[in-house]
Amino acid sequence: MPNVLPISSMVVASDADDESVARDRPITGNDLETLGVSDNFLAASGFEAKLGQAALLPEQSPVVIAIGLGTEELTVADVRSAAASLSRACEQLESVTTLLPLVAAPTLGAEVALQAVIEGFLLASYRFDELKGFPESGSRLNRITLIAPDGIDSDVVLKKAGAVADAIALARDLVNRPGGSLTAVQLADEAVAVGDSSGLEVEVWDRDRLTEEGCGGILGVNAGSSEEPRLVRLTWRPKGESRATLHLVGKGITFDTGGLNLKTFEGMKEMKIDMGGAAAVIGAMSAISAYSPDITVIGTCCCTDNQPGPNATKPGDVLHIRNGKTVEVLNTDAEGRLVLADGLSLAAEDKPDLVIDLATLTGACLVALGQKYAGLMGNDEGAISRVETAATQAGERVWHLPLPPEYRKQLDSQTADLQNIGSGRFGGTLVAGLFLQEFVGDSPWVHLDIAGPVTTDDTEGEFPKGATGFGVRTLLELVTGW
Ligand code: BES
Ligand code: MN
Ligand code: ZN
Repeated sequence: MPNVLPISSMVVASDADDESVARDRPITGNDLETLGVSDNFLAASGFEAKLGQAALLPEQSPVVIAIGLGTEELTVADVRSAAASLSRACEQLESVTTLLPLVAAPTLGAEVALQAVIEGFLLASYRFDELKGFPESGSRLNRITLIAPDGIDSDVVLKKAGAVADAIALARDLVNRPGGSLTAVQLADEAVAVGDSSGLEVEVWDRDRLTEEGCGGILGVNAGSSEEPRLVRLTWRPKGESRATLHLVGKGITFDTGGLNLKTFEGMKEMKIDMGGAAAVIGAMSAISAYSPDITVIGTCCCTDNQPGPNATKPGDVLHIRNGKTVEVLNTDAEGRLVLADGLSLAAEDKPDLVIDLATLTGACLVALGQKYAGLMGNDEGAISRVETAATQAGERVWHLPLPPEYRKQLDSQTADLQNIGSGRFGGTLVAGLFLQEFVGDSPWVHLDIAGPVTTDDTEGEFPKGATGFGVRTLLELVTGW
C-alpha cells in the first residue's frame, strides 16, 4: 500500500455532536481575541492568514493551530492545500480536530469540502521511502477529527477520498521509483496488479505479441534494451449499457537515456520520470471502480526503456507503426512519440468518443510553460474544452497550445511517410503534437504534455518534493463528469 496516512485515522463528526468535539472545539478567526492572541503576535510570527500558512498559537492547551485561508473564494484545490498545511503543522501531534470541512462547505458543498480536506491530509503525508535503509519517522497523527455539516454520507466520501489519494500516491510511487527498480515488465506487472484488484479487464502484450500486432514504434525504441517491452491495457466496463468510450494512453518510458542520441548528464539524470503519463493512467484506472461510471474506460500504457546498444535503432532507420505509416527516426531521443504512435493507432481503432494521451514528451514544453503547467493540444474543440474543464475542476493547470498546420511540413521525410523530429529549431512541443496527430485518425483527441508538472522541485500544498501524480485527477474528473 502506498505511503499515506491510513484512511482509518479519519473520524468525521458533525458540529451537533458534543463529547470529544466539544472538548477540542476548533476555533475560527473570530475567537482569536478570546484566546488572548494579539494581532501583534501574529504579525511578529509572520502569519498573515495567506492560503497555505500555518501558525502555532502561544500558550494554548490543547494546542491551537491557525490556518490561513486567504481572502479569495476557496476552490477545492485551495482547501486541499490548507488541509495539507494543517497536516504538516501537526505532524508531531497524535490527534487533531478541524473545522475546515465546515468552513469550506458553504462555497464547495459539504461532500466536496470534506473530500478535499481528507485528500489534503492524506496526500501531504505522502513519502517515498521504500528505498531508504533508514527511513525517517513520518507523521505521528493517528486520529483526525473532521467537523463537517450534519447529514452527509461520510462513509461514501471517505471511500472516494481514500481511492483518489491512493491513486495519486501510486502514480507518485511509480514516477519516484528509479529506472533500475522499475523496468517495463515491472511497470506492466504493477498495472496488472491494479487491474486484478479493482476488477478491470487486463491485457498484456509482450515482445512477440507486439511484433505480431505490428507495433514497430514500441519495438524500435526497445531495440537497444536488454529489457522486454510491454503494452498493457486495463478496461473498465460498466455493468449496464455503456454511454460512451474513453481511451487513455500513457507514455511509459521507464528510463530515457536518449538512445544512440545519448543525453548529457544534466538531461539524463531525471529521466526515471519518463513514464509519468503511464503512471497517471494506471493511477486513474485504480480509482475508477470506486466511482462505477456508466461509460467504458480503456487505459493503454506503452512501456519500454530507451537505451543505446549494438541493436539500438540508429538515426536514419525507418520504423513501421501500427496504423501503417512509416517513420524515419532522425533522433532516437524523440522516442515518446514513437511509442505513442502505436498506442494512439490502437486507441483510434476502437472509434472511442475521446482519446486522451499523457506524456512527458518535450523539454520544449518546460521552456514554454515552466514546471507548473501542462501543454494541451487537440484536434477537436469539444474534446479540448471537456479536458480543460476537467483540469480546472481537478485544480491541475493546463494551457491550450495550437497544432499549427503551417508547421506540419517540418515532419516530411525524404525516405518515409514522416520523420520523428521537425526540420526547424523552434516550437518543439507543437511539432511533437503534430506528429502524434498523424496516428489518431478522426477520433476526437487531446494530448497533454506533462513534462513540467510531473514533478515539483519544492514541497507545496499537498505536493511533497518529487513526483506529483499529475494527471490522475484530471482523468478522474473527465470520467466522472462525462
Ligand atoms: N523525455 C524527454 C522529454 C523531457 C525532457 C521530459 C525534460 C521531462 C523533462 C523526451 O523523450 C525527449 O528527450 N525529448 C526531446 C525531443 C527532441 C529530441 C526533439 C527533447 O525535448 O529534447
Ligand atoms: Mn527522449
Ligand atoms: Zn522521453
